Amino acid sequence: MPDKLNPQSSVLSPHNSLLITGGAGFIGANFVHYWIKNHPDDRVTVLDALTYAGNRANLAGQENHPGFGFEHGDIRDYDLVLHLLQEQQIDTIVHFAAESHVDRSIHGPDAFVDTNILGTHTLLKAAKTAWLDAPHSLSNTPQSSVLSTQSSPYRFHHISTDEVYGSLGPDDPGFSETTAYAPNSPYAASKAGSDFLVRAYYKTYGLPMTISNCSNNYGPYQHPEKLIPLLILNCLEGRPLPIYGDGLNIRDWLYVEDHCRGIDLILKKGRIGETYNIGGNCEKTNLEVVDTLCAILDELKPLSLHSSGHSPHSSLITHVKDRPGHDRRYAIDASKITGELTYAPVESFESGMRKTVAWYLEHLEWCKNVMGEDYKKWLEQNYEK
Ligand code: NAD
Ligand code: DAU
Repeated sequence: MPDKLNPQSSVLSPHNSLLITGGAGFIGANFVHYWIKNHPDDRVTVLDALTYAGNRANLAGQENHPGFGFEHGDIRDYDLVLHLLQEQQIDTIVHFAAESHVDRSIHGPDAFVDTNILGTHTLLKAAKTAWLDAPHSLSNTPQSSVLSTQSSPYRFHHISTDEVYGSLGPDDPGFSETTAYAPNSPYAASKAGSDFLVRAYYKTYGLPMTISNCSNNYGPYQHPEKLIPLLILNCLEGRPLPIYGDGLNIRDWLYVEDHCRGIDLILKKGRIGETYNIGGNCEKTNLEVVDTLCAILDELKPLSLHSSGHSPHSSLITHVKDRPGHDRRYAIDASKITGELTYAPVESFESGMRKTVAWYLEHLEWCKNVMGEDYKKWLEQNYEK
């Protein structure tokens, strides 16, 4: 059972009751903070298995909010998910939970198939049961479960990635919603599988869904296995900054709060059955990313390297063995969400990176706590072996 739901919240008639899967992870936690700030009367239930990537401390500050609840559990647990949907009268699922790290999927793909494909399917099955097969069990009776419904009180929003589209050449246009899927890593393939299942539940059963495929996020609470926090924390410790291959791979960087605003727009105004790509309009090579970060840290933390004798921070850049199957370039064509839903990112790369660096510098205790034994083992497995 959710252990923190304020009993009073059940009489407040909140506008919506959201189930946020993976809400203790990087983007999920940012979304929980964003949502409660902007929709304080809604009920928010987080379902998270607290894997190495999940951290309940990411939700500190919301634990006492009326209507906030946390369930420590697995999206593959059908009975648990169905129970939550019914008990909390969930009308909106925002599905972030996943194994999300490409490098981990290369070392061990099984967990990716289990969580991303089977876990998503479990959620879909439970949502179908709660919303379509037994509508009388919930307070809001759906008007229809046919494909044409645009007025359903329910929504299954699936968070996906631009990696499902594969890799772009230097002059190719950005990925649009009609770009053919061509996933290259086990992670990307498992996300593609989950996208297809979500689509199939809409086409076959009329489950009201939307999907967003977004580009690389960065910002507060990102686990330091991922490029940007890894570089920040290695800089602070005077350790090498590992850049795979020639460092000229390109990603389209999106500040995480801009991503949250895009999801909010899709939930409010997006058309059921549609996919929306969300990007930052911000293509950078990995070398450009590391140079920007080092320059910001040279300015904000010029003394961080005194003990190790490295200065400036860019002197720590080290080219290491490339990631197998490393996609060369991602870029998003965001014209659909821009045109239909008037979406535009607010942060520039420079402003978003400054906010991100400042957040990590202000949360060194958080960093210390996520850089325990498991993290050290990961660094050894991925970089030293
Ligand atoms: P993350 O790895 O930081 O967090 C994932 C969360 O899911 C963690 O809290 C973890 O505990 C939870 N989780 C994992 N397996 C679970 C299970 N079986 N049951 C319940 N909870 C489980 O991931 P993230 O970077 O925040 O990504 C969130 C979503 O966004 C993912 O679906 C990812 O594919 C997608 N996405 C991420 C990015 C990015 O740049 N980070 C970009 C595009 C799309
Ligand atoms: O594009 C969206 C995807 O972005 C999401 O679907 C994934 O969940 C998310 O993890 C991210 O995947 P990437 O593989 O692009 O992110 P990562 O931070 O792992 O790497 C970013 C780039 O930096 C990539 O080109 C690989 C490179 N890299 C990464 C690490 C960890 C390095 O050069 N050195 C490193 O040590």
